[in-house]
Amino acid sequence: MKQKEKYIVANWKMNNDFSDIPVFVKYLKKYAKNQDNLVVCVPSVMIKTFAEESKKTLVETGAQNCYFKDKGAFTGEISPNMVKSAGATYVIIGHSERRQIFGETNELINRKISACLTVGLKVIFCVGETLEEKSKYKSVLKKQLLEGLTAINDLSNVIVAYEPVWAIGTGKVATTADIEKVHLYIKDTVKENMGVDVPVLYGGSVKPLNSTEILALDSVDGVLIGGASLKAEDFVKIAESRG
Ligand code: PGA
Repeated sequence: MKQKEKYIVANWKMNNDFSDIPVFVKYLKKYAKNQDNLVVCVPSVMIKTFAEESKKTLVETGAQNCYFKDKGAFTGEISPNMVKSAGATYVIIGHSERRQIFGETNELINRKISACLTVGLKVIFCVGETLEEKSKYKSVLKKQLLEGLTAINDLSNVIVAYEPVWAIGTGKVATTADIEKVHLYIKDTVKENMGVDVPVLYGGSVKPLNSTEILALDSVDGVLIGGASLKAEDFVKIAESRG
């Protein structure tokens, strides 16, 4: 993937407020006018506002989760169509916080991915091993990938995000050698089992100070950024570090 086209994806998690949206978008309009492949995944109640505010820019809006059902008695959940009609084009599925805090299984994640693809959303599918699983990362990631992508025949709207759980919000970043090794493993596993190439993003304590070297890696097709995506200045600095 061309350096300048690599994905720069913000994951605000449960942070920022409605009042931050115009400020954030104004900064992007001024300093990132020509930057492509920028996605900002906001809390679901903010999708519509963010999408409308950023309408005349190249920035796309994403959700951080959604359910797999179309509609019904699922108190507190939102459907893929709701996400889409609010103005999102991307959705993060299977983030480690969803897996660990909310008990999401590979099977549930698989149903969510499938439902989101059906309505035409692009899916950022997260995988990653915990610190305890680090020595057996291959089997952990293979299981997450194969079970998460079961019976999904068209992967053209799927982007994998590799986020080692031990590197999320901890300031610990995997070494570039580790990132390269694991990204190649993920790409090979998907290619061998599904016969296609998938883009793979890296996430986990990415910030302006380390993004240049991470984005320079051939096997890295972009980054998924939590903490450092909350301020537009840092997000734009990371986007600019694509060179
Ligand atoms: P972080 O989060 O950049 O704050 O480590 C990344 C993520 O969880 O997507």
